[in-house]
Amino acid sequence: VFGFSSQFNSGQRVYDDEQQGLGEQTVIRFSFVVAENTPKGRAAQEFARLVKLKTNDTVRVELFPNGTLYNENDEVAALQRGSIQIIAPSFSNISEVVPEWMAMDLPFAFRNDEAVKEAFQGKIGSILMGKLESHGMIGLGLWANGFQQMTSNVRPLVHLEDFRNLKFRILPSKIIEAQFRLLNAGTSPIPFNKVYRSMESGEVDSGENTISNIYSRKLYQVQKYLTISNHAYLGYGVIMNKQFWDKLSLANQQAITAAMQEATVWANQDAISFNNKQLDDLKKTGQMDIHILTDDERQAWQQALEPVYTEARAYIGQELLDAVNELRQ
Ligand code: LMR
Repeated sequence: VFGFSSQFNSGQRVYDDEQQGLGEQTVIRFSFVVAENTPKGRAAQEFARLVKLKTNDTVRVELFPNGTLYNENDEVAALQRGSIQIIAPSFSNISEVVPEWMAMDLPFAFRNDEAVKEAFQGKIGSILMGKLESHGMIGLGLWANGFQQMTSNVRPLVHLEDFRNLKFRILPSKIIEAQFRLLNAGTSPIPFNKVYRSMESGEVDSGENTISNIYSRKLYQVQKYLTISNHAYLGYGVIMNKQFWDKLSLANQQAITAAMQEATVWANQDAISFNNKQLDDLKKTGQMDIHILTDDERQAWQQALEPVYTEARAYIGQELLDAVNELRQ
């Protein structure tokens, strides 16, 4: 990956081998922290394929998975200063710069995948996308991963008291912090590429993540208990550096927009079936005790976490809070 560092520094245009007749090509570097065989990795590959197709190969999207270039701590800053052109961080990571994005972290905000789709395509999505520009970023799309599930290496997480005094690895978000505070548990924000080790060493004993992230990062080797709780949602904002965007030709902007729309429709459907498939794969490892939260248990969790909504107003504002409340009616 680090073999072509000269290209890294050369800005948006590189000159491909003229002898092959390829001429000038615009290169878009796209960095993300998960593996290629994940909902985000698959979406990024589909986007790259469509950009190539729609621009007759004059725009090339280069993918840098597994956090090889940047991790969650520094990728938003790297995007803002133009060191990378596209990233797709989780909502919580974007909220470090644009707090309103925390709206997507609210527990029990989305009843099912249909509600998530409505949030992405409706008022919530458009408010969130609109907040990016003043921070030097352009929102290209909203990508799904899936619902968050609880894991622990200490005991099954079923009743509220099971959470007491456990320490959870979390994404950096005040709303997620509040969620665990209400469950009397501690938290530590840790970037994705350090999660396995932090669970292995016992620095944290519990976590929340999607089936795909639990499976692809082999977290089942360091977490004995999984609760299928679907208590919150993990998805991504696909964002581009604004200066880079503004310098693209109108034709390229249109092609990229179209590629993103098409890739997003495909990817957000794919993410659902991919997580389902990986739940089967996870079961086959036989390494986790899996509990599916019952309706009654779910109701108890939901009630205990309701005060997060009161606290959230200060972070996300009344308009977004109203929009989320309307969706979860
Ligand atoms: C995490 O850190 O758990 C996720 O944000 C990783 C990802 O990008 O899916």
